[in-house]
Amino acid sequence: MGLFGGRANLVGLDIGSSAVKLIRLRQASGSWELVAFTMGQLPPDAVVEGRIMNFTAVVERIRELVKEANVKDAECCLAVAGSSVIIKKLSLPEMTRAELDESIMWEAEQYIPFDIKDVNVDAQILNPRAGQGQMDVLMVAAKKDVVNEFVSVAVEGGLRPVVVDVGIFSCLNMFEINYAVPADQTLVLLNVGANSVNVGVLSGGMVSFTRDIAIGGSMLTAEIQKQFNVSYEEAEAFKTGAESSLSSSTIAREVAKIADRVSDTMVTEVQRSLDFFVATSIKADISRIYLSGGSAQLPAFIRALERRIEVPVELVNPFRNIAVDARKFDIDLLQRAAPVAGAAVGLALRRFGDVS
Ligand SMILES: Nc1ncnc2c1ncn2[C@@H]1O[C@H](COP(=O)(O)OP(=O)(O)OP(=O)(O)O)[C@@H](O)[C@H]1O
Ligand SMILES: [Mg+2]
Repeated sequence: MGLFGGRANLVGLDIGSSAVKLIRLRQASGSWELVAFTMGQLPPDAVVEGRIMNFTAVVERIRELVKEANVKDAECCLAVAGSSVIIKKLSLPEMTRAELDESIMWEAEQYIPFDIKDVNVDAQILNPRAGQGQMDVLMVAAKKDVVNEFVSVAVEGGLRPVVVDVGIFSCLNMFEINYAVPADQTLVLLNVGANSVNVGVLSGGMVSFTRDIAIGGSMLTAEIQKQFNVSYEEAEAFKTGAESSLSSSTIAREVAKIADRVSDTMVTEVQRSLDFFVATSIKADISRIYLSGGSAQLPAFIRALERRIEVPVELVNPFRNIAVDARKFDIDLLQRAAPVAGAAVGLALRRFGDVS
């Protein structure tokens, strides 16, 4: 099993820290169709810092989703992210794929803060002729024990993992099938989840920068819990503006204030990453920021982003180019869940022969 590669019609399984999402797509004559989409919440301690902490809770949730989507024993693609994944763009002498496969472990060793024996390494040739006898290669390394953890919960949950992707790459794949990526522009995709922000930059149609930031919407949930002395579930309801919970306008005002403060902190971290990208790239004029992930629906975050980064911000629709049968799916419900489905759609796109 490689980090890249796979077979046809994989089930996309996105194990997030707040919820698991499962998507199956079908491809017919070049266009995609939604076959299944289910999701289920996880307790806040089930997945922490990109590690599975409550094995039983995650397995149970996957089992339910597998049953609901009727995909028992199907081959699936899942993703790892965070500090157990190292992504690095390398400039190497031009070589064949076979030569690269032979030398990548040795090349990787210099950039990996873990023992090379403890990681799975894969590489993708971005630009085979970058000039002066060099080529650009994207190296990805993921800690084996973390990959194994995610594979185990999927297996126990009733699926057969055959591809392990990286969170931000799946989001970028989802983006590319839905939106035109102009060759002369630099676009940023932010997948803003509960406990992480995956940053991906596309320049000239290629991945030019990625980073995972350990910050997300659950920070706001925690602040609301603290401020109002309420449970996680109640705080989530306050945050997303569930009507009954916000009967008092004083509470609504206070929640809005906390949302502004937390959003500002989140944007500061995003800006720090983008500043680093700009400082280390030649073509760094960002044209637009696209958002996916549940916390991308936080109006305060969008406002803070627009104000501070000063580029247009747009919410991604992961189903923009995916046909959805209104007889099988509740379109309203699907559109409301669309922001959180981004990564899972990207995982469900993975097919045999994929090396991107
Ligand atoms: N309408 C909304 N407004 C604000 N926040 C929302 C809204 N809907 C969902 N969220 C938040 O989005 C988060 C869940 O998003 P998502 O499913 O993308 O995260 P995840 O994949 O579980 O987390 P991570 O990828 O960080 O591990 C939760 O923190 C939830 O409170
Ligand atoms: Mg996520």
